[in-house]
Amino acid sequence: MNIETPFENFLNEHDEEAWSATLATLLRLIHEVDRNATQIWFAFYPLPLLRALEQSDDREKLAQQLLLRGDYELKAQIDTSHRFLYGHRFWPQVKRAVEQHADSFNQTARASLADQILGVARSVAQQLTKDESLLVGITAVAFMTVQQAGITGFKSAPATIGIDNKHAKKSPEQVLRERAKDDSQGLLGFLRTVNKQWTVTWDENDSSAKYKLREAQDLAWGAADDQTRDWRSIDPRRVEGPIPVECRSAACGTCWVGVLGGAAKLADVGAREGKKIKEFGYIDTAEPKPLIRLACQAQAYGAVSVVIPPWNGQFGKYLRSLKEQDDKSIKIVAKPEGEAKSEFVQ
Ligand code: FES
Repeated sequence: MNIETPFENFLNEHDEEAWSATLATLLRLIHEVDRNATQIWFAFYPLPLLRALEQSDDREKLAQQLLLRGDYELKAQIDTSHRFLYGHRFWPQVKRAVEQHADSFNQTARASLADQILGVARSVAQQLTKDESLLVGITAVAFMTVQQAGITGFKSAPATIGIDNKHAKKSPEQVLRERAKDDSQGLLGFLRTVNKQWTVTWDENDSSAKYKLREAQDLAWGAADDQTRDWRSIDPRRVEGPIPVECRSAACGTCWVGVLGGAAKLADVGAREGKKIKEFGYIDTAEPKPLIRLACQAQAYGAVSVVIPPWNGQFGKYLRSLKEQDDKSIKIVAKPEGEAKSEFVQ
């Protein structure tokens, strides 16, 4: 049987709500280059889904029931899941610092989760002489990765960096300058009202990972025109172009993407996209231009930079039903003297 370390115990005291509060505290301390990326990463690897799978009697059956396809388990992607964060280039140092933090974790004098993340980020920033804000997002990612993959699995990953030197050398300012930069529409382009073309970047660490679409096309239609690679052999979910698609009508959830830059240049979330994206479980927000979108529904009116998650599924309804069951299982038990207390019914 796996015995949890004190650090794992501490992490496991934090559920989705506790993590949301922690992220809200950290967000303003994360450099702009990684602020969206960090939020997208946390949407790509939802803790309640992992817990539901772990607690299920038949994990494979549940995965099938929730139509999970692709690489949804973080433990198999410890070094790679965060390749789209600027902080990924500091991963070996961050990983080592988190391992040391886990080994020396002091149960009695423990700080809040946010303070511990900031403490580790600060120590790595000092060691690398980098701005602390560049380390906060990736350190939060490392903590969540330990919680989902376990410290033993975390330590066993080789700590590799998955981007080439050319991209690793870019400054955060350069990345921000290039991100979602609108295409020139040529001489007198400002007069053009039709046939405007915009670039969609789907991997900022690969210079060839771009395609063009026409004004008001949705992200998935534009991607389908890209015949430059054998997409299916890269990922069977990619039946045409770099964005995985199936129904093209907001019915399957295959095409979800994170929007690193240019979210404001996508059309507002329509009623169907808003309803379905919640049902799938990807995001629960009323924001008109959120960071998670269905590519087959999001029409572009400018250049955007997106991230493609390595998996998809339909788990929102299931997780909500589990939560409702949990809430119902708390019953009010009247004590003899008339006081009331709540307790869990096993
Ligand atoms: S392709 Fe099915 S939801 Fe977009």
